[in-house]
Amino acid sequence: MTIINMTVNGVPRQMAVDERESLADTLRNRLGLTSVKKGCEVGECGACTVLIDGKAVDTCIYLSLWADCKSILTVEGLNRPDGELTPIQRAFVEEAAVQCGFCTPGLIMTAVEIVGTGKTYTREELRRLISGHLCRCTGYQNILNAMERIVEEAHKVAGK
Ligand code: FES
Ligand code: FES
Repeated sequence: MTIINMTVNGVPRQMAVDERESLADTLRNRLGLTSVKKGCEVGECGACTVLIDGKAVDTCIYLSLWADCKSILTVEGLNRPDGELTPIQRAFVEEAAVQCGFCTPGLIMTAVEIVGTGKTYTREELRRLISGHLCRCTGYQNILNAMERIVEEAHKVAGK
C-alpha cells in the first residue's frame, strides 16, 4: 500500500491505496462517488471520465497512486448548495441528451473541460472532442446539441 494525498471535489483526502488500484475503483468503491461509471475498463468508452487538475482523464486506466498531490473533480463536485443544476447539466436535460444516463457523467466532465478552454468550437470539432465517449443508447445528435448550447451559453456569459 502507498499513502497518497489528493483533493477530491474540494476536500483534502489522505488514503492508503494498493499500487494496482485504479482511480475509478478508489473514487467509486471507497469514496462512494458513483457518478464514476465503469463500462469497458480499458480506456475505450469514457464512462469513468473525471477531471484531474482540469484535464479529462479515463480513471479506469489511471492508477490511484498517480493522483498523489492532484485535484480531482467528479459530477458530485458540481453540486450546488441550493440543489440547482449547473448550466451544463441543464443543457443535457433540456436537449434530451440523457437516456439511460450511463455515459452522461463522463460527458459532463468533458463538457466542463471544453467550457474551461474558453474557446468556441464547430459541431465537427465538438464531435471529435467527445469521440472518446461511447453512448450505448446512441443519443449522439442530442448530446452534440447540448454541447453546442453549452459552448454558446458560456460565450454569452463571458460576453464574447
Ligand atoms: S470504463 Fe474507463 S474508459 Fe470505459
Ligand atoms: S444515455 Fe445511455 S449510454 Fe448514453
